[in-house]
Amino acid sequence: MARPVIIDCDPGQDDAVALLLAFAAPEALDVLGVTTVAGNVPLALTQRNARLMVDLAGRRDVPVFAGCARPLVCELVTAEYVHGQTGIDGIEVREPEQPLEPRHAVDFIIDTLLSHTDPEGVTLVPTGPLTNIAMALVKEPRIVPRIREIVIMGGAMREGGNHTPSAEFNIRVDPHAADVVLRCGRPITMFGLDVTHQVPATRERIARIAALDNPVAAAVAGMLSFYGRFDSRKYGMDGAPLHDPCTIAYLLSPDLFETRACHVAVETDSPLTRGHTAVDFWHVTGLPENVHWAHRVDADGFYRLLTARLDRYSAKT
Ligand code: RIB
Ligand code: CA
Repeated sequence: MARPVIIDCDPGQDDAVALLLAFAAPEALDVLGVTTVAGNVPLALTQRNARLMVDLAGRRDVPVFAGCARPLVCELVTAEYVHGQTGIDGIEVREPEQPLEPRHAVDFIIDTLLSHTDPEGVTLVPTGPLTNIAMALVKEPRIVPRIREIVIMGGAMREGGNHTPSAEFNIRVDPHAADVVLRCGRPITMFGLDVTHQVPATRERIARIAALDNPVAAAVAGMLSFYGRFDSRKYGMDGAPLHDPCTIAYLLSPDLFETRACHVAVETDSPLTRGHTAVDFWHVTGLPENVHWAHRVDADGFYRLLTARLDRYSAKT
């Protein structure tokens, strides 16, 4: 039985690859909808980019919703310097066929959680700032027991920050939303920079994807080639960390990852460290372990899974 999920994202090339990976596994993941949020680029572009991925994957059955256009409290910060002006530079960007749903993403999340019949509930997979998820929790607390798990890309421990010296981008953009989500009491599995930096999209890995010779794999190779240039220079590594697909790979093949139950809290006030995630990996605080923190991954296994799922699009074309 496929697991019902809602993917909340800010495409961004890595979000786009996460969507394409999820769309290629309908036997495992029932993507009830894609909700979008301002983050890597403004909302008008993240919602368009998500719709484009639905077109590319041939998954017009998946509705796309626009959510919050700015964080709860902070001013919006975007990352065109990483992702390009379109947010998914590296492929041709056009007006999508897939229409945008009229309902607000937050209302879609609430309505779906309250109405879905799966007794285990629905899994939320946020790969951008957590604004939509936090708004849904605040607007309708009755959704809490209907959430099976929240699988987040965000945060950092030993890796330090990528947008400030101490904060990872998704959490830095909306630290107040992250605080609401981390306190919600439902199972949370979190993929921070400590694990995503273990899966760089190297030239060899991109070449293997490009060799699949189908339009989806070609688009992934194009996006990752563009996306890799900034982080390769910044970190001196071959390729950029493939952050967001870690969430989907975990849902498809959890044994690829090692996690540890930890208390995780977020700094919301300090101008210097706002968005910092304090991960109590050694349990020094004695505070409740609210997060399964991912800290190790089988990187080759991750790319075998990604490449094999992208190859499924060859059969379709
Ligand atoms: O810090 C990496 C995260 O920020 C990824 O989700 C990327 O897409 C950006 O949203
Ligand atoms: Ca993202």
